[in-house]
Amino acid sequence: MKIQDLDRIILDEIRAIIGREFKCPTVEIDVSIPPENVDAELAVACFPAAKQARCSPGKIASTVAARFGQPEWLDNVKAAGPYLNFRLKPDALFRMVIDQSLSERKRFGHTPDRESRTVLVEYSSPNTNKPLHLGHIRNNVLGMAIINLLTARGHRVIPATILNDRGIHICKAMVGYRRFGNGRTPDSEGLKGDHFVGRFYVAFEREIQAHPELMDEARDMLRDWESGDPEVRNLWSRMNGWVAGGFDRTYRRMGSRFELVQYESETYSLGRKVVEQGLADGVLQRRDDGSVRIDLSDFGLDEKIMLRADGTSVYITQDLGVAVERFQKFNPDRVIYIVGSEQIYHFRVLFEVLKRLGYGWADRCRHLSYGMVYLPEGKMKSREGKVVDADQLMDRMRDMALEVMQSSAIEIEGADRLETAEAIGLGAIKYFILKVNPMKDIHFDPRASLAFEGATGAYLQYTYARIQSMLRKAGCRPEPGENVGGLESPEEIALARSLLWYPNTLRDSAEELNPSKTAGYLFEMARNFNTFYHKHRVLDAACPTLRTARLALSAAAANGLESGMSILGIQPLHRM
Ligand code: ARG
Repeated sequence: MKIQDLDRIILDEIRAIIGREFKCPTVEIDVSIPPENVDAELAVACFPAAKQARCSPGKIASTVAARFGQPEWLDNVKAAGPYLNFRLKPDALFRMVIDQSLSERKRFGHTPDRESRTVLVEYSSPNTNKPLHLGHIRNNVLGMAIINLLTARGHRVIPATILNDRGIHICKAMVGYRRFGNGRTPDSEGLKGDHFVGRFYVAFEREIQAHPELMDEARDMLRDWESGDPEVRNLWSRMNGWVAGGFDRTYRRMGSRFELVQYESETYSLGRKVVEQGLADGVLQRRDDGSVRIDLSDFGLDEKIMLRADGTSVYITQDLGVAVERFQKFNPDRVIYIVGSEQIYHFRVLFEVLKRLGYGWADRCRHLSYGMVYLPEGKMKSREGKVVDADQLMDRMRDMALEVMQSSAIEIEGADRLETAEAIGLGAIKYFILKVNPMKDIHFDPRASLAFEGATGAYLQYTYARIQSMLRKAGCRPEPGENVGGLESPEEIALARSLLWYPNTLRDSAEELNPSKTAGYLFEMARNFNTFYHKHRVLDAACPTLRTARLALSAAAANGLESGMSILGIQPLHRM
């Protein structure tokens, strides 16, 4: 029996009993995790059912408990007030979770949704005038976790990004380069392309005080760009090429990938066509000054500008094109925009405008916003000052991980040493970010994120590595069907329970688009393993059957950890 079947069997029988006893057909119920002080594997709350059946939840619970059959896997079912608590026979529990984990391996707990859907997930979406920064790290880490969660639910996921590669901010970097570049290139300076270009954007911003005429130059350049001036276009392609090369390296390092890459320089003209159509249809209005607007005051929003008086497009213009193109290409069932919470207003406007323009798919779009990330004052300094760019932060984390490895006597030699440090450093940031609900702000604490104890990426990696090393010593690789007799202690049961509840955790985490559920849960799983491991002997267990069973349980836990870490984008380490 699979874990997911167990849920279904229990719920079906409860529905049948309620149907019979209370003459109440389909009943809303679901299994949940019992509270810590209850010695049971699964709980079912009877409140919604009681409402439907028009009687007290306590009555429902006691009736179901009395009528529930006696399948061979069930030890007992008890009513506790409005709740039903199911306790499985330990043998059945161990057999089920160990076999399922050992056969599904690193895909343990992936449960396909009833219907597979096409979901386009937009994430990262940087501007091409400077390197990726701390906010992008959160965005990317969150984006990838959500993509992995939805993929584990059997959906067809399209990872997408939009590069905002045109506009006044890009022209500022270009003017900066034209003025101060003196023919230098990323190669001549030994810099990553995005960092190189970022310097000229900074130079522009620095010089603008003393030379306000730079701003006119940038505006002229934007007009020249729109009219296709070959020289401006040439410079633009060169600089964007540099930035793209730099971004690629950062994305590869973080493990980000995209199937659809859109460019504002291409979609903005489609956006303008959409605006023109909206004008023709009378949804949008042209003002006396020539600008195009939409009045959303009846929707509790302001009047929004769609095209400037001089005919140039604004941020939202391109987004109309971006959305239309996505639906033309993929006709997704859902589009999730992962963008910081400072753009909540923008997306409310965008989706409402799309709806008024008559795009029936507008209500398939959703903005998933997230909070800020703050660095501790002073602690993350580099030679140039505060670390806010993504590459520097990752370097710094890798270096700190190396120090931690040194002081905790982790003995890995040579090139592997750096690779391990990189995995620990990245795992630390990723876990620190993902354990927090996306809506909340984060105060990043690099030291705490690298601790080997507590809810950290390193703790998960360490626990996983510990199990791998034990399996190596045992020289065996447990397979499904292994003898699991003899497992019975509370620590073994607690560990098995955390595996039993893992598939539902993954499901809820995906449904709520909230990776923090998975992150928090993995910590529990790792902690349960370590408690078990401290209390019981595995390799030198009292008898060979117990040794085999404990190794199988440990291997099952390792699969659970590996499954969850892969979802969160944290590299499981085989040695530490
Ligand atoms: N490039 C924008 C920025 O850095 C974010 C783009 C978000 N996505 C979108 N479809 N508007 O602020």
